[in-house]
Amino acid sequence: MNHTANTPNILEVNHLSKRLGTFALDDVSFALPQGFIMGFIGENGAGKTTTIKLMLNMLAKDKGEIKIFGQEHLQYEREIKERIGVVMDSPYYVDAWTMLDIEHAVSSFYSKWDHSRYMNLLEHFSLEPKKQLKALSRGMKMKLMVAVALTHDPDLLILDEPTSGLDAVARNELMEILRIFMTDERKGVLFSTHITSDLEKVADYITLIHKGRILETQTKDELLEKYLVVKGGLNLLTTEQRQMLIGYREHSVGFDGLIDCASLRHLPTSIVTEPSNFDEIMIRFNMGGEIDE
Ligand SMILES: Nc1ncnc2c1ncn2[C@@H]1O[C@H](COP(=O)(O)OP(=O)(O)OP(=O)(O)O)[C@@H](O)[C@H]1O
Ligand SMILES: [Mg+2]
Repeated sequence: MNHTANTPNILEVNHLSKRLGTFALDDVSFALPQGFIMGFIGENGAGKTTTIKLMLNMLAKDKGEIKIFGQEHLQYEREIKERIGVVMDSPYYVDAWTMLDIEHAVSSFYSKWDHSRYMNLLEHFSLEPKKQLKALSRGMKMKLMVAVALTHDPDLLILDEPTSGLDAVARNELMEILRIFMTDERKGVLFSTHITSDLEKVADYITLIHKGRILETQTKDELLEKYLVVKGGLNLLTTEQRQMLIGYREHSVGFDGLIDCASLRHLPTSIVTEPSNFDEIMIRFNMGGEIDE
């Protein structure tokens, strides 16, 4: 689907701030247009789960605005929640519950809860409905959470590390489910993950958060085009040129680092460039450089 100027945002976060002890989520803004999947990436402790909890009112914001389906998220909380499917990074059900008990507890919150859909999803993931939560492996629990999140036919999926603990086969199954989910252009997915290869397959947009602040939010292709990995011999760059690199690192025979393409013209033409990827971008920003004030 092509993004046009009049595509409405299914999710919008404006100037969101929240202080938690020494950590602060600081002026976070990004928007996900309807019909797309956004990957939400950043190092451990960057603020991904905090941002998601604020959206879901599991935490109260200090400042800022969150709009879901174009509506203020607290003012229309009930209506909005009916239309969202959520997977958090740790399951929050009682260990002794079976999958049927979980259905019993959750289904009353959703007018569109569909028992046969739940059974089909459990079967798809090879989950036995009478099994207790405590008898499930980490990956099986994650699949169960995904099944629960999809059963009421949500319009927006908010997934906090849904692929953690899943093997390559299960991750692929989940990506396939997201692809099918997105065939309906009115839907959207926000998806935080450490496994950036999953995003390379399915994400349309990427938002990169670092130490509570948004560094980048744009389409996947724009982000990958924006940064290049550069390499060269030790004496190739002046101190000033070195400072343009993000995550500059020297080793025995040379250096490497990340460069914003807009600054590339300031570097020697003999410099070697390679395409970057999400891991590279995340790691280099964590190493510091240009943007670390
Ligand atoms: N209730 C709390 N009180 C104090 N600090 C908190 C609280 N909850 C989270 N934090 C801090 O907020 C920061 C961001 O945490 P958050 O869970 O949002 O990170 P994350 O990006 O989801 O990381 P991960 O990739 O490890 O899941 C961390 O430094 C964490 O210690
Ligand atoms: Mg988290």
